[in-house]
Amino acid sequence: MTQEKLVTQIAATAVVDATARIGEGSKIWNFVQLAAHSVIGSNCSLGKGVYIDRHVIIGNNVRMQNEVLVSTGFVIEDDVFIGPGVLFTNDKFPRSHRNRDVSNLRWVVGKGATIGGNVTIMPDINIGEYAMVGAGSVLTKDVPKHGAVWGVPAKLMGFVCYCGYVFKENMSFKGEKTLKCGECGKSFKVTAPEIKKKNAKSKYYNITTQRG
Ligand SMILES: CC(C)(COP(=O)(O)OP(=O)(O)OC[C@H]1O[C@@H](n2cnc3c(N)ncnc32)[C@H](O)[C@@H]1OP(=O)(O)O)[C@@H](O)C(=O)NCCC(=O)NCCS
Ligand SMILES: [Zn+2]
Repeated sequence: MTQEKLVTQIAATAVVDATARIGEGSKIWNFVQLAAHSVIGSNCSLGKGVYIDRHVIIGNNVRMQNEVLVSTGFVIEDDVFIGPGVLFTNDKFPRSHRNRDVSNLRWVVGKGATIGGNVTIMPDINIGEYAMVGAGSVLTKDVPKHGAVWGVPAKLMGFVCYCGYVFKENMSFKGEKTLKCGECGKSFKVTAPEIKKKNAKSKYYNITTQRG
């Protein structure tokens, strides 16, 4: 039996640079703009007015709601959900007369993470796999794997299962521990909430994050 090819849909009002790549089965809705050399995986959905900057890389099965803006330097892994109006920034000290050179910099949103509506992600931040960022947060620090963070600035409030169940855990443990979810029965390991240094090297892509 031959496998059915998924249809890629691109709205007539979308502006897709000739060098951008879109995987099969992805849906690109009205007024989306994909800048040069951006890469969108397969089976993604990019809502109305999404802007994807140059060289951004997006994995498979990523859902982005309306008006998300992803700046150059970000890599979004598979199965990530991004709520409406999320803003990814990449220059902490912007000035109109110069642009930060971000050509060698990468920040990662880990596989399966969720970012709530209207979140602002400050420059040089990585978000761990399966993390959950509450609506309206301003992220100023890295988020650990399975971390549940929210607020302005966002603080680690607990941990979150693959299924989305939030554990409001006692944060005073040391090292690693395993949590078992009462909702779906899956277990996952979490690490004690040390405050991670910003500008740490990305373990996924091994690229320095110093200011250009
Ligand atoms: C982060 C989130 C998952 C937490 O849900 P929860 O575990 O059920 O948390 P609760 O509602 O029990 O709230 C716990 C406390 O945190 C506060 N809180 C919850 N979410 C918050 C947020 N995003 N920002 C600030 N405070 C928040 C609550 O007011 C409550 O405070 P209190 O203890 O002083 O009363 C959820 O609130 C959220 O923001 N989800 C994302 C929604 C979204 O953006 N969807 C987009 C697609 S439509
Ligand atoms: Zn679960």
